[in-house]
Amino acid sequence: MDAALEALATTARAWLSQAESIAVLTGAGMSAESGIPTFRDALTGLWSRFNPAQLASEEGFRADPALVWNWYAERREGVRRAEPNAGHRALAAFQARHPGRVTLVTQNVDDLHQRAGSTGVIRLHGDILEDRWLERRSHACDLAQAQPGTPPRCAVCGNLVRPGVVWFGEMLPAAALAAAERAAQRCDAMLVIGTSGAVWPAAGLAHAARRAGARVIVVNPHDSELDEVAHLRLQGTAAAVLPALLDAL
Ligand code: OAD
Repeated sequence: MDAALEALATTARAWLSQAESIAVLTGAGMSAESGIPTFRDALTGLWSRFNPAQLASEEGFRADPALVWNWYAERREGVRRAEPNAGHRALAAFQARHPGRVTLVTQNVDDLHQRAGSTGVIRLHGDILEDRWLERRSHACDLAQAQPGTPPRCAVCGNLVRPGVVWFGEMLPAAALAAAERAAQRCDAMLVIGTSGAVWPAAGLAHAARRAGARVIVVNPHDSELDEVAHLRLQGTAAAVLPALLDAL
């Protein structure tokens, strides 16, 4: 870290040390250095190349299940191949040194926080590696052999399997959102890492923490929509800033 960033990190460390309760909100930038693309970065973000209405909505899935299934299959492969980066590891180690003080809330659908050793991770947008039935049925659906390149179906009723992520227009899992809101209300400091702040209600957690009196620290190499709620911005990447910020705490 250069001298200016280190001076800001010193202040951030003081706030984190004083905080009884710390909430961490992470977004796609957290996993960027693990090789998982973000959504809104201008050149590399998924939504600059792909249409979210087609690939991340129930209507899009119903219109072309195979297309959507195959797109998620590729992303699942990318997640399975990826490894946690130094930022995930620094957060997990920090959490382990401070049992009960740090609540980690993520918008990410990968499992890199968990693989780095973080516990109790609150997942707002689901789990890309999980399968779910598209429709609720009164009978227990029974998986049929899938045709390669198409989503598995129920052998009895044809119900389709879909990835366990939250799509546009869908509600967040209620228990996860409630737990995240409690953490935001209760915390004395919130670390916001690698998120554009463009998607609600996740972005609202940083606003809620600020309103409730917490110090808000944003870690992001670029500007974000949450800069307005930040007391302090650490302009760098997650894998560079987090070890430097947290390893001494
Ligand atoms: P975005 O793609 O919107 O934002 C990624 C943020 O990460 C940007 O602000 C980048 O500047 C920042 N960034 C890029 N590289 C970074 C790095 N190495 N270290 C730290 N920050 C970096 O991703 P999210 O804010 O997570 O929804 O997007 C929110 C939701 O929109 C996602 O959860 C996803 C998407 O549609 C679902 O999957 C439901």
